Amino acid sequence: MVELPVAFLHRLRELEGSYLRETDPVRQSGFGGGHERWRLERALVLDAVPDDGDFLDVGCANGYLLECLVQWGHERHVRLTPYGVDCGAQLIALAQQRLPQYASHFWVANAWEWSPPRTFRYVYSLYDCVPEALLPAYIRRLVTQYVETGGTLIMGAYGSSSKQEAARDIATDIAAAGFRVAGSSSRGALPVSRVAWIRAEQGHGADAQERAAHAWRSASFLLGFSVLLDILPRASTIRVEYV
Ligand SMILES: C[S@@+](CC[C@H](N)C(=O)[O-])C[C@H]1O[C@@H](n2cnc3c(N)ncnc32)[C@H](O)[C@@H]1O
Repeated sequence: MVELPVAFLHRLRELEGSYLRETDPVRQSGFGGGHERWRLERALVLDAVPDDGDFLDVGCANGYLLECLVQWGHERHVRLTPYGVDCGAQLIALAQQRLPQYASHFWVANAWEWSPPRTFRYVYSLYDCVPEALLPAYIRRLVTQYVETGGTLIMGAYGSSSKQEAARDIATDIAAAGFRVAGSSSRGALPVSRVAWIRAEQGHGADAQERAAHAWRSASFLLGFSVLLDILPRASTIRVEYV
């Protein structure tokens, strides 16, 4: 597997430091627009979440988004069980304090190389958890290793109102990674936040991939064996002739 560039990893460590300097939970999650806009620009994640289920936030920071999504989901009669992973150990410690009843649902890991111990009905990740060049491979990895069959991968992108920067068109990235976009949603005129999602189908998952790899190995073995059976008699003939 390709390793993440040192400069990218360094930036992630700096990001953790900058979040930890804040005390406000919204700012600790990397958002400077205040609580009202937080909800306006983050609740769209639930547009991809029609039913109850386990929800993994990849890059969950201090767990505040998870806490809010559980509460906002409850208001829509959708019951979510929160899970989170982040490469920042101190951020994960904050998430565990925030949601103590779910302390065992959090992991410290880099999402690019992490193999989750289980799959989830809903998985949410921002596109910038990896450098842009690795985004298609990252999306494939999330679909095949993180999401259960029939579940949903939700990819998110945030822009900036103050800088008048539109959120990245993440649906285009999903299509470029070779997946069908099952739905998308956005907020704001720019728009300032976007999500797009993929339904993980039979054949996307890790089990299916392993079965396909096994079938391919078996076919290769049989093909190799039959070629060997075909050439062995001729090989022995040749050897006899040269002796
Ligand atoms: C902007 S915060 C997102 C918080 C929340 N998920 C949200 O959408 O508002 C980004 C978080 O992702 C984490 N992160 C970025 N890349 C990551 C990676 N490759 N693996 C694990 N965590 C990552 C950072 O440490 C940071 O806490």
